[in-house]
Amino acid sequence: MPIHIRRGWELPESAATPEHLVLGRRKAMLGLGSILAAGTVIHPAGAQDAPSVAAMRNPRFEPGRALTAEREATNYNNYYEFGTSKGVASVAQRLPQRPWTVKLDGMVETPVELGLDDLLKKVSLEERVLRHRCVEAWAMTVPWTGFPMSALLKMATPLASAKYVVFETAADRATMPGLRQSWFPWPYKEGCTIAEAGNELCFMAVGLYGKPVPPQNGGPVRVLFPWKYGFKSGKAITRITFTDQRPVSFWEKLQASEYGFWANVNPQVPHPRWSQARERLLGSGEMVPTQLFNGYADFVASMYTDIKGENLYL
Ligand code: MTE
Repeated sequence: MPIHIRRGWELPESAATPEHLVLGRRKAMLGLGSILAAGTVIHPAGAQDAPSVAAMRNPRFEPGRALTAEREATNYNNYYEFGTSKGVASVAQRLPQRPWTVKLDGMVETPVELGLDDLLKKVSLEERVLRHRCVEAWAMTVPWTGFPMSALLKMATPLASAKYVVFETAADRATMPGLRQSWFPWPYKEGCTIAEAGNELCFMAVGLYGKPVPPQNGGPVRVLFPWKYGFKSGKAITRITFTDQRPVSFWEKLQASEYGFWANVNPQVPHPRWSQARERLLGSGEMVPTQLFNGYADFVASMYTDIKGENLYL
């Protein structure tokens, strides 16, 4: 790994987007980043102990778009803990999926630490077909199985003074080679407001295409904010912390001018380096118009009407 010794006149690394990330995202924009030629579906190691994730589909989440093929969605991933290419599916199989513990802590009445399978006994699973829009302008539509984040809010009972929720994800040096990029602010953490976490659309996923979420897509448990750019949806969640301080999350620390706290999808607000007006569908490569809040305005727009003076779309 080349080591870069910073000179006095250079920006701190935390203030600049690393070139390979820029190039990686640029490649995705050009449609060159795909490594799907082989098109194999990789089945997760260690998930054989996981309970069934079969669940009824919730018809409220009709995506209005064709499903993305499973092999596309599970072979084109962003997961920097495993590397900066889209082809991390095979190396991600190393992340053990069980035992897995999720901690709920911080400003809560009842801190909770539960094995994932015990947690799953306390919630009702449902399937939702959801659109996912990456900030890099590619998109997919996939069936997730899981439960609303609001179920965890009920379990932990945040204090009235808690205003934000931080989702911390696994940082396992034994299996994640990307952690050797030591200047990245590991562990990957992203946050939201309590209202956003309690919104019906905020979802904790344990299944994908009717099977346990494969490691490369965030198994064994991942949060989803379908109305926000995909980087807000942390994979392999280990800890959920309630706080009164607005968190500065992973991408915001790396490049705040490009990846902000809110990151709500908006086709009218370009990323500083590219347009967000359209998106490329994984698989077909078709370019389609991007929708405000990724098409979920009816669920979420009211949360933002009173927030003034902030860029809600970065
Ligand atoms: N979560 C972690 N822990 N690490 C990551 O690098 N990448 C994010 C998000 N969650 C990421 C993460 C980004 S940029 C996107 S677009 C989505 O995961 C990609 O999800 P997918 O690989 O399931 O499509």
